[in-house]
Amino acid sequence: MKERSQFSSKFGMLAAAVGSAVGLGNIWKFPYVAGQNGGGAFLLVYLLCVLIMGFPALITELSIGRMAQTGPISAFKKLTGNNRWTFIGVLGIITSFLVLSFYFVVAGWSLEYIYQSISTMSFKGMTTADLNNAFDQFSTNTMRPYIWLVTFIVMSGLVIYMGVQKGIEKGSKVMMPMLFAIMVYLAVHALLTNSSPEGYEFYLLADFSKITPTVVLQALGQSFFSLSIGIGVLLTYGSYVKEGNIVITGLQISILDTLIAFMAGLVIFPTVFSFGIEANAGPELAFVAMPAVFSQMTGGMVFAILFFLLLALAALTSTISLYEVMVAMLNDTFGLKRGLANLIVGVVVAILGIICCNSINGHSIFTLCGMTCFDWCDTITSNYFLPIGGLSMMLFFGWGCSRKKVHDAMIEFGMKEWFYKIYIVFVRFVIPILIVLIMLNQFGVLKI
Ligand code: TRP
Repeated sequence: MKERSQFSSKFGMLAAAVGSAVGLGNIWKFPYVAGQNGGGAFLLVYLLCVLIMGFPALITELSIGRMAQTGPISAFKKLTGNNRWTFIGVLGIITSFLVLSFYFVVAGWSLEYIYQSISTMSFKGMTTADLNNAFDQFSTNTMRPYIWLVTFIVMSGLVIYMGVQKGIEKGSKVMMPMLFAIMVYLAVHALLTNSSPEGYEFYLLADFSKITPTVVLQALGQSFFSLSIGIGVLLTYGSYVKEGNIVITGLQISILDTLIAFMAGLVIFPTVFSFGIEANAGPELAFVAMPAVFSQMTGGMVFAILFFLLLALAALTSTISLYEVMVAMLNDTFGLKRGLANLIVGVVVAILGIICCNSINGHSIFTLCGMTCFDWCDTITSNYFLPIGGLSMMLFFGWGCSRKKVHDAMIEFGMKEWFYKIYIVFVRFVIPILIVLIMLNQFGVLKI
């Protein structure tokens, strides 16, 4: 038996998990989804989702890995002795491919914007119309988005090939605090230079009438996406650790991830309103609003380059978490050599990525129900596949495993008895019921 690799410290695993969680989901996706779903109303529902569902789901996924000490496909079998739950691992593989196919496209945008920060001298003198134009021209260009997309895939594949993920994750111990610091600086800068309170009103005041079934579903999906729940990434990371308090780890990941997303909103929404950008612009929001911030800032160029560089690196630690899990699964389950598995993942993701990339801005090969391929991959994974993956893991943990085994493991992982009593009720009843209700409600089967 090969010795399983372990993180050298609790901190190593925390850095990797935070690296996976913090990414484009926080800075690109959160503001755009919040902007489309009523701002403050979305923020409120989002925070509740993280607290009530995301945080317990995160602990559950980490714990399954830690108990099984193996990756997603075999973990379920190892803990129950039967194959009934293996579908969760399979769903995870499909979801990973779909997530990566649009994620790499946006990761490519972050590389383009490092380049544009330099070539336009940090977007100096550009108006909102210019910035919108710049994005449209770039995204409809028949070469550049594809080149950046493939560059990012190759970068991730190389990191996996060279086995330097741990190095990258160690690097994120420095990069994450830097990203955090720059977001704080930009948020304070927005507060001090911004005269219009509408942005804050939009983002921080919840208009309850805007809470619709769709808003709730989007908030649920976004919270799972942002915390990296539902695929088996956290399960894999959990399987590399043997020590540390699971509740504290879960709290640290959830809080850091949520704070970065929250701050992205604090930077973007005031800017959106003072520059007359559409809050519901969709996926391009951050790539128009952030350049707007830098265009008027002293030292804008340094900040712009640093910001997009850190964004690309944050995206890289997220992509390698998904990429590695897929390579490991192909390697464990089908016995493929890691090199070949790496190549297969890269090629499949590149094909899907090119289709998604092509579907942006009216170039779509096909649209279905008015949504492009990019939108499909983006929404279907967050809103359905991840919550269903997370839900299945909770049903597995709460109902499929022996009660005593789960209880003893959680206490051993540092959970207090009183907390366990609440936690297990959430895992067995509250969260599954909520997720099912939210989905039925969205389909109009149920009217709440
Ligand atoms: N959480 C990451 C982000 O916010 C994306 C991500 C990485 C992810 N690994 C995942 C999402 C696993 C779902 C499942 O950018």
